[in-house]
Amino acid sequence: MNFLMIGDVVGRTGRNALKSHLSEIKRKFEIDFTIVNAENSAAGFGITPKIYEEFISMGVDAVTLGNHSWDKNEIIDYMELNPNHSIIRPLNFLNNSPGRGYKIFDHSNGKKILVCQIHTKLFINLPLNDPFQCLDTEIISLLEAGKADYSFLEVHGEATSEKNGIGQHYDGKFTGIYGTHTHIPTADARVLAKGTAFQTDIGMTGDYESIIGMKKESAIKRMRTGMNSNRLEPADGEATISGIIIKRDIENSSTTIQSILIGGILNREVF
Ligand SMILES: [Fe+2]
Ligand SMILES: [Fe+2]
Repeated sequence: MNFLMIGDVVGRTGRNALKSHLSEIKRKFEIDFTIVNAENSAAGFGITPKIYEEFISMGVDAVTLGNHSWDKNEIIDYMELNPNHSIIRPLNFLNNSPGRGYKIFDHSNGKKILVCQIHTKLFINLPLNDPFQCLDTEIISLLEAGKADYSFLEVHGEATSEKNGIGQHYDGKFTGIYGTHTHIPTADARVLAKGTAFQTDIGMTGDYESIIGMKKESAIKRMRTGMNSNRLEPADGEATISGIIIKRDIENSSTTIQSILIGGILNREVF
């Protein structure tokens, strides 16, 4: 099966890029299942129920979040009222947090696909449970019991070292492990020694003529003055769609990974 993962969609320009190109990308790469990180999809901060439903109507199968999960309050009630939604927040948010940290999807071809998100701890000011312990107790046992045919772990975090630590520690357990959150794609897509496809960070789907998706002027002013009073707004130039495609052939036991950069100033693809 072929899987598409899209990095943090930032604001309207990121959503518009996906709306315009997702079906074409899915067709070109024969994608069977799509995961989109949407923690910045609502004007850079969080997600709303309406935006989630837009993603699903575009052909997205699973939506992941991150440290911005609760920036828009209305998503919390929505997640609690719709137990069957396909929104995944970090597994190691504190106990009793709304929503879920993983979901096992039933594909129309009969295969089961586990999607999980974990949050790292370095340089992150959030109360979090230990990521390794949460994965060991809640996820690894499911995988070892054969509850999923394919499994993906999204590692949301700031430090490349910690993301590599989690990737290498769980190599061989998941079909793919990939990072999100920094909004800058890394050039290290590869299959690890025990067979898991890996990329440290899959970048953002937004306007790269910016500071990680936000308009440059106010972001730089914040850095230079230390003042948080000026509002950060998403940049609105054409977005680059940044992500990865993982192809896994169970019968031949082969896995490949490639990164994609489509549209905007980082464009590498020609349609
Ligand atoms: Fe984040
Ligand atoms: Fe993000």
